[in-house]
Amino acid sequence: MQNISLPISYDKRDAIWDIQSICSQFKEYNTIDTDLYKVYPVARGLRNPDGTGVVAGLTQICNVHGYVIDEGEKSPVEGRLSYRGIDVNNLIKGCIEENRFGYEEAAWLLLVGKLPTKEQLTTMRELMTLYRELPDSFAEDVLMKTPSNQLMIQLSRGVLGLYFYDENPDDLSIENQMRQSLQLIARLPSIMVMAYQIKRRFWDKESMYFHQPLPDQSISQTILRMLRADTQFTEEEARLLDICMILHAEHGGGNNSTFATRVLSSSGTDIYAAISAGIGSLKGPRHGGANKKVREMVEFMKQDIKHWDNDAEVKDYLFQLAGKQAGDRSGLIYGMGHAVYTKSDPRAVILKRSARRLAAAKGFEDEFALLEAVERLAPEVLAEKGKDKVICANVDLYSGLVYKMLGIPDELHTPIFAAARVAGWCAHRMEEIVCGGRLIRPAYKAVLPHQDYQPLKDR
Ligand code: COA
Repeated sequence: MQNISLPISYDKRDAIWDIQSICSQFKEYNTIDTDLYKVYPVARGLRNPDGTGVVAGLTQICNVHGYVIDEGEKSPVEGRLSYRGIDVNNLIKGCIEENRFGYEEAAWLLLVGKLPTKEQLTTMRELMTLYRELPDSFAEDVLMKTPSNQLMIQLSRGVLGLYFYDENPDDLSIENQMRQSLQLIARLPSIMVMAYQIKRRFWDKESMYFHQPLPDQSISQTILRMLRADTQFTEEEARLLDICMILHAEHGGGNNSTFATRVLSSSGTDIYAAISAGIGSLKGPRHGGANKKVREMVEFMKQDIKHWDNDAEVKDYLFQLAGKQAGDRSGLIYGMGHAVYTKSDPRAVILKRSARRLAAAKGFEDEFALLEAVERLAPEVLAEKGKDKVICANVDLYSGLVYKMLGIPDELHTPIFAAARVAGWCAHRMEEIVCGGRLIRPAYKAVLPHQDYQPLKDR
C-alpha cells in the first residue's frame, strides 16, 4: 500500500492557498462551450428558445398568465394570476368588501380547491390558532443554540427541526399531509418572528420579546403583534400585510421554489425536507431574495444619484447597474423582469396602488417616485442594451417599500414571502403526491471527454 505523507503542521492559511490552487484547476476543467447549447437540443434553465418555460406538469392550483403564443410567436399581454381559477384581484376585492382578513381563506382555497364556507373558515381559523403554538422548548433547542442574522436559514432550520417533534413525520397519506400542511402554514410566521427576536437579542444586542399570540387574531395580526415591543398595530396595517400575504401565497408549479418543493416531494421524502428546500430556493436573489436586493439597490441609488427626480440621472445610473458598474455589480436591476409576465405583473400593480397611498400618508413620496422611475426607465435601458425581452416591474419592486412603511425590518421581507408562500408549496406538494405520481428526473446530455484512469504514481 502506498502512503501519502502529510505535512507536520497544516493551518488555515495553507488551506486557503490550496483552495485557490484547486479552484484554478477547477476553472481549467469545468467550462462548457456555450455553442454546445445550440448543437444539442437542451432546454437550458428548462426554457424553450423563446424564453417560455418547458411544460413539466399539469396543475389545478394556479394559473400565471403573461403572454399568448400567436402563430408560433410569443406576444406580450397584461399579466393575470388566478388561484384555483379565481382571479386574485377578485379574491382581494371580496375580502375588502366583506371586511375580513383573507390569507387564511386563500390558503384553504389553494389547499382544498374551493373557497371555504362560513363554517369552514371558522374551522380554518381554529386550526391556525391551535397549530401556531410551537412545541415546548422548540425555540431554545432549534433556534437559540446557534442564533443567526440570516433569517431564511433560520426558517429553513426551524422547518427541518419540526420533523423531530412530529410523531408521524413520514406518512404520505392525504390526512397526514393535510395536518402537516396546516401546521406549517400556522407555524412558519411564529418561527419567523421568533428567529427575528432572537437575532435582535444576540446580533443587535437589543431586547427580544416572545409575545403570546391571541386566539382570535388572523395570521397578519399575529405577525404584527409578535413583532412589536408594545404588541400594537392598526387595523389598516394588518389588512395591508394580509393583502401582501395573499399576493405572495402562490405562483404556479414552475417557479423555482415550488418546483424545488415538487421535485423533492416526487421522491417520496417528508414535508419538512421538501418545504425547507423551497425556503432555500426562495432565498436566492433571482427569486424571493430580490425584495431584499431591491431595498439595497434603492439605498445605493439614494446615495449615488444627486437628483432622484431627474430621469436622465436615474437612467444613467440604471445603465451603470445593468453594466455591472454600480450596485452589487451583478448586472441586474432588481424588481424588474419576470420569467412569465411581460407587460405587467398583477401583484406589482396591486402593491403599487397600496404603496402610493401609504407613501402619501407617511411621507415616502420621494422613494415611491424613485421606484416609479425605475419601473418606467429600466425597460428602455435594457432595450437600448439590445435585450429584446419585454420586461415590467415584478412583485418585488414595491413590496419592500410597503413593508418598510409598515415598520417591518428589511431582514424580514423575504421570510414574510416564505411565510405566505408555504400555502402554495404545500398545495403543490399534495398535488404532486396525489396526481403526479412519478419521480421527477430530467436528463443531462453528457459532453465530457474520455479519460484513461492513471495510477497515482503516473499522474
Ligand atoms: N436586470 C438586468 N437584466 C435583465 C433583467 C433585469 N432585471 N431581467 C432580464 N434581464 C436580462 C437577462 O440578464 C438576459 O440577458 P442575457 O440574454 O444577456 O443573458 C435577458 O434580459 C433576458 O432575460 P432572461 O434571463 O431570459 O429572463 P428570465 O426569464 O430568465 O429571468 C428574472 C427572469 C426574474 C430572473 C430576471 O428578470 C431577473 O433576474 N430580474 C431581477 C431579479 C428579480 O427582480 N427577481 C424577482 C423575480 S419575481
